[in-house]
Amino acid sequence: AHEPLIAPSILSADFADLGTEIDAVAGSGDARADWVHVDVMDGHFVPNLTIGLPVVESLLRRTDLPLDCHLMIEDPDRWAPGYAEAGAYNVTVHVEAARDPVMLAKNLRAAGAKAGLAIKPNTPLEDYLDTLKHYDTLLIMSVEPGFGGQAFIPEVLDKVRTARRLVDTGHLKLLVEIDGGINPDTIEQAAEAGVDCFVAGSAVYGADDPARAVAALRERARA
Ligand code: DX5
Ligand code: ZN
Repeated sequence: AHEPLIAPSILSADFADLGTEIDAVAGSGDARADWVHVDVMDGHFVPNLTIGLPVVESLLRRTDLPLDCHLMIEDPDRWAPGYAEAGAYNVTVHVEAARDPVMLAKNLRAAGAKAGLAIKPNTPLEDYLDTLKHYDTLLIMSVEPGFGGQAFIPEVLDKVRTARRLVDTGHLKLLVEIDGGINPDTIEQAAEAGVDCFVAGSAVYGADDPARAVAALRERARA
């Protein structure tokens, strides 16, 4: 396999001190995050409310790490391109919420971002294979979206294996990302199933030393 990408989720960070929290994983070597995962929740698509575009714009000014924006919102067709225009590296929308995901992917790419498609744990992958041809990343949720610190749902690894096979055989060209319940114990099975990019919130920001937690996850994902 290739080098794993580690994307700490600031959902578990101190929202009063986000700049410092991101700086904590912006060091060098294995302890440096590849992307910073930003969970945008609107209190409608998921029963939780977090941050939106103004905060993302501030974070973009603050850090040179690529921002991986995960939009758990209704009407992403309307709102997601703004995150791409602001300079987010990857903008992920939920297939359960998007009205025209193919057009949306085109709009995200035209605005200069990579386009990501997220699927909830009970959403089948097979229904969206044509749609995914237009996307750069596939985010497979391994918890129900809405909250950090939930337990990993191992059944979603079947979707990871399917996606891995479709990428390796050239049917899809995207990065496989997993989000939810990733920690030093669960990351190995996700890596084995073929994940490219690992989101981890509580396992990074719940640790005493977030940088060391990033390095430890990376080490386990390589195993
Ligand atoms: C959940 C979010 C995740 C969350 C993961 O809806 O999409 O990104 O931060 O948190 P952990 O890693 O604690 O499960
Ligand atoms: Zn997320």
